[in-house]
Amino acid sequence: MQLVKSALHIILLTGTVWLLFGTSFSCRDPKPMPPDDKDSFPAFDPTYIDFKVPEGFPLMEIPEDNALTEEGIALGRKLFYDPILSGDSTLSCAGCHKSRAAFSDDRRFSFGIDGSIGTRQAMQIINPGWMPKLFWDGRAKSVEDQALAPVENPVEMKAHWPMVVDRLKASKEYRLLFHQAFGTADITKELAVKAIAQFERTFLSYRSKFDRERLGKVFYDVEEQDGYDMFFSERGDCFHCHGGVLLTDNAFHNNGLDTIPEDTGLEEVTHSEFDRGKFKTPTLRNIELTAPYMHDGRFRTLEEVIDFYSEGLQPSKTIDPLMKAIRNRGKHFTPYEKKALLAFLKTLTDTAFVNNPALQPL
Ligand code: HEC
Ligand code: HEC
Repeated sequence: MQLVKSALHIILLTGTVWLLFGTSFSCRDPKPMPPDDKDSFPAFDPTYIDFKVPEGFPLMEIPEDNALTEEGIALGRKLFYDPILSGDSTLSCAGCHKSRAAFSDDRRFSFGIDGSIGTRQAMQIINPGWMPKLFWDGRAKSVEDQALAPVENPVEMKAHWPMVVDRLKASKEYRLLFHQAFGTADITKELAVKAIAQFERTFLSYRSKFDRERLGKVFYDVEEQDGYDMFFSERGDCFHCHGGVLLTDNAFHNNGLDTIPEDTGLEEVTHSEFDRGKFKTPTLRNIELTAPYMHDGRFRTLEEVIDFYSEGLQPSKTIDPLMKAIRNRGKHFTPYEKKALLAFLKTLTDTAFVNNPALQPL
């Protein structure tokens, strides 16, 4: 496998340096070194990755100016796990996007570096390479664009890019890694987010029971199959929004959580009242692992989510026309139907993804 190969490659190349590094930077930042002057790096010779999408997946659009390379992915991986990106060097991306929770936060709201608390639940990072828009309200247009935001977000990493770039420039190891990835040791925030984006494009979840079943390798038991049939038919009606192999339409909907939403979601971006209370449809891949649920983490369990779709829908002007059952507050699933739906949702768990060594810290 490319990813494993890439991981091994990097471990072999830079293993000793990684081991020596590890400790975080102190609050007082070291003086940036002039790039390249003192460094004599080997010639720039990146290893391009012949990226193949998993069977049955749509093509992934990778920007021409950010082709995947082993070196770029390795650098992104290091940055993702490095608290150097946060104001006081205590919080990394992974501090809120935890692998065991399919790269989401198991807390309702995440804490920023100074203990300040956000108002939205940290999203899972699963197959982000297929997402045309990111964040609950879709305000980022690419993984690159998205990665710029948390560093300066006051309730998250609360740093300033020029400061972070100076810190990176002061590290000979980072100068080498940027040189290997991009052919320059003149580090910029644009290059940093490109590397993070490359790493994130390798967050591929495609090995759940759902996948093995769709490829004809295993069969569902009766309960799972009944849940599947509900999910993908008008009875459960989940597939209109959470359909396809990605289990999301990557679009924005008001799924009926509130009559008057506290967080207006997409409206904040478009300033259109027709978008009030619309949020990005999350993928349901690994949903068993990503509690709590919804943009504000209001539901602690999948049982609560199913009860909500069954009998808890709240009317509003912008509720999605697909929530046809709104007049009765939901579809009123029988206890067995709820159980079956839950059994199906659990087949979306992909332990190979959350345990993928290439996505763990080095
Ligand atoms: C303090 C916690 C925190 C930290 C640190 C953090 N995030 Fe997030 N992340 C969030 C929250 C909360 C959201 C949802 C915010 C929103 O939609 O407004 C989010 C959303 C995202 C998304 C969008 C996923 C989607 O489906 O649209 C990605 C990707 C992401 N973060 C990657 C990163 C990266 C890369 C870093 C490090 C540079 C990072 N995050 C650091 C909390 C955090
Ligand atoms: C009209 C589109 C639509 C339909 C139909 C729909 N959903 Fe959703 N679903 C969404 C949206 C949008 C969200 C995020 C809402 C929010 O956080 O404000 C969501 C959130 C979820 C979540 C929480 C995900 C997370 O990461 O927090 C689960 C679980 C879920 N839906 C399951 C289902 C099931 C099961 C069905 C069928 C019974 C279903 N959905 C039908 C659009 C839909």
